[in-house]
Order: sequence, then C-alpha cells, then structure tokens
Amino acid sequence: MSAKNTVFGLKGNIVYSKTPMQLEICENGYLVCEEGKVKGVYPALPDTYAGIPVKDYGDRLLIPGLSDLHVHAPQYAFRGLGMDMELLEWLETNTFPEEAKYRDLDYAKKAYGIFAENLRKSATTRACIFATVHREATLYLMDQLEKAGLRTMVGKVNMDRNCPDYLSEASARSSAEETKLWLEDVKSRAYHNTMPILTPRFIPSCTDELMKLLKEIQTETGLPVQSHLSENYGEISWVQELCPESEFYGDAYDRFGLFGNDVKTVMAHCVHSDAREIARMKANGVFVAHCPESNMNLASGVAPIRTYLDEGLHVGLGSDVAGGSTENLFLAMAHAIQASKLRWRLKDDSLKPLTLPETFYMATKGGGAFFGKVGSFEEGYDLDLIVLDDARLKHPQQLSIEQRLERMVYLADEREIHAKYVAGEQLF
Ligand code: GUN
Ligand code: FE
Repeated sequence: MSAKNTVFGLKGNIVYSKTPMQLEICENGYLVCEEGKVKGVYPALPDTYAGIPVKDYGDRLLIPGLSDLHVHAPQYAFRGLGMDMELLEWLETNTFPEEAKYRDLDYAKKAYGIFAENLRKSATTRACIFATVHREATLYLMDQLEKAGLRTMVGKVNMDRNCPDYLSEASARSSAEETKLWLEDVKSRAYHNTMPILTPRFIPSCTDELMKLLKEIQTETGLPVQSHLSENYGEISWVQELCPESEFYGDAYDRFGLFGNDVKTVMAHCVHSDAREIARMKANGVFVAHCPESNMNLASGVAPIRTYLDEGLHVGLGSDVAGGSTENLFLAMAHAIQASKLRWRLKDDSLKPLTLPETFYMATKGGGAFFGKVGSFEEGYDLDLIVLDDARLKHPQQLSIEQRLERMVYLADEREIHAKYVAGEQLF
C-alpha cells in the first residue's frame, strides 16, 4: 500500500473534519487513495473501484495525520525538566545552554536521532520545526527527518542580539550568510520530504538589520517564515522598548514584510494579541500555532482560541517542546480543551470552551492547511493517515466512534498508532 502510482483502499472506522463544527464519521467505511491523494470516503466500495487492493484495518479508527505547527527539536532533550519559570528566565536558564550544545555535532547526532525516531512513531505527519543557529546540526536534523519520511519544514534559527555570547551569531551579516550557506546545502541535498523555513527566533533576539537581510533572502527564495508572537507579558513590553515605532508586536514583523500576505507565516502562541494584532493576522493570513501545554508550563496565559476561530483565522496546534513536555499531539488537543475551560471559568466567560470537534479540526485540517491540502479526507487531500488501535485501553461498555476518538485524545500515545501514511506512502 505504498507505491504512489497506484489506487488502493483502506477500510475501517473513518473520522475526519470538513469544518470545526462537526466530525465526519464513516463507520466501517472505505477510503480510496489514488496517486497519493484521497479520492473519497465511502460507506461501500464504489463499483468503479471493484478489484483494487483494500487493506482492512478491522474495527480500528482511521484519522488524518496530525500537524505540529511549532516544535523545537533541540529542546526535546530537556522536555519535562525545569518548568518553574516564565519565558525569559526559562530561555536564559534552560534553553540557551541546551541549544549551545548543538555546536557539537556528536551531541546533535545523539539528540536529533532520538527526536526524529520518536516523531516518526508519533501521530505527527507534518511539522514546523525550529533547530538552532548551527548549520551543520540543522542539516543533520533535516537528514534524519527526511529518512523518517515525515513531511517537515525545518529552520536554522537566526539570533544576533540579547542572548549569551556562546549562542549569539556574531552579526546580522554573518547570521544571514550562514543562512544562505545552509540554504545552498539544503538545495544540494535535494530532499523530497524536508523543506527549509526562515526562522528569526523572535523580535528580542533579532536586530533590525538582521530582519532586513532575512527579508531579502525571503524575497529571493519565496520561503515561508516561522517565529514567536505575543507569548508573555515581559516579552511583549520588551518588544515595545526595542521597537518603539511598532504599533504592536506583530507590526514589528510586518514592518519588515515577514508577517503573512505573500509570505506564508506561522506565529507561535498569540496568547496576548490585541484587537489590532488579531485584525492584522487575519488580513495577512498569518497562521496561529496554539501551544496550550507550553502556555501553562511557562505561565504565559491561555490564548483566546475561540476568538481566533470565530474570526476565521488559520489556527493549528503546536507541541512547543520543550515549553510543552511532549510531541504527543493527542495530549495537545486535550490540553487545548482543558486550558480553554480554565480561561472560560477564570478569565472570560463570554468565550466558550473549545469542543472536541474544534480541537480535532485544529490538529488536522486547521494546521494541515499550512502545508497545502493536508489534514482532511476530502477529495484531493494528500493521504496523511493514522490507524489507531484502541484495544489496549479496555472498557466494559459500548462506545460510539466519536466516544472512541475522544478517549484517544485523552489517553492515546504511540502504542495506539498501528499504522501511519504520509502523502500516500506507508511508513509502518
Ligand atoms: N520565544 C523565543 N524563543 C522561544 C522558545 O524557544 N520557546 C518558546 N516557547 N518561546 C520562545
Ligand atoms: Fe517556541
């Protein structure tokens, strides 16, 4: 079931989203895939497909692969550690010292090997990934992800101010030069699954000159951009000091042309975005990567995702390892629901908590849209698919398909992932 130039069917209990409002469920249904793309989902196999090979997954659940719109590969090594600080102190204490280790390629090989292997086994089929400033280590990470078969966008990080000397790039110019060399290396690797993405860490660690140079590279290459936005109060006031001419945090990116419009852009967090920032994100088509566990661990707050969904913004989920402790996006869905309930109860009862269908939508079609027609089983979508086997988690009562999915959101880990397809190719 892996060759792209074939037609094949998959049989099982199929669940996917068309809209955030409701789940599409086809019990004991057939999904037909042709040339790596979904042709359709059917309660019975249509006559035109009679005789195609069909893999029967029995009573298991078939769902779209999940998209992680924001994860830091080098931080995977210290996930679950040092969570009792807010963002800026946490960066200085935990993050920068760990990221500095990736200067040493031997260390990077060990750490990134573990990351790529665990991501392969997870429900994640697509991801937007931060590496570090180090070119060699970033290429090694990309090699591993390419081999793992996941479809990813990976960024060599840019940072030329407000970080320790042992990690900071020497100047805007050298940061840009390293980025160009990295892009040349990437080009020569001719990856099939792995794409570069420009990655200014966040405004506090990038000078105006660096942002200008990155815009030049962006214009030349047409590459997408990922960064952080309005995550933490201290960070937001710092940006206002560093860029007094910007109207709001997001405007500090937009002034350099690195905030959506013809530049595909994903911004992590958006916890404290004000009405002007939300309007700009909407007008510019900027994607929001909602990272609920990180928002809790770093005591950043809880992003108003209900507002973003109502406004029609593009919203997906991110693990934000190691602000988040796990690459498991099922838990990110559960955390998104839980965080929205606390926000509703404690902060603003006009914004109703998120529902299971909304959260499932964000993890699949919402985030998948950053990669194209990804994250749904509607016709023409790339076949990214996870087969979930929930038999390990025994229960005495009858459960509907929707209930079984809900249980997976709260309880599943890699042990439930029975099979995985990415863009029509079966990984396992
Ligand atoms: N802002 C700038 N860098 C980081 C990072 O590594 N993690 C998070 N959560 N926020 C950031
Ligand atoms: Fe982050």
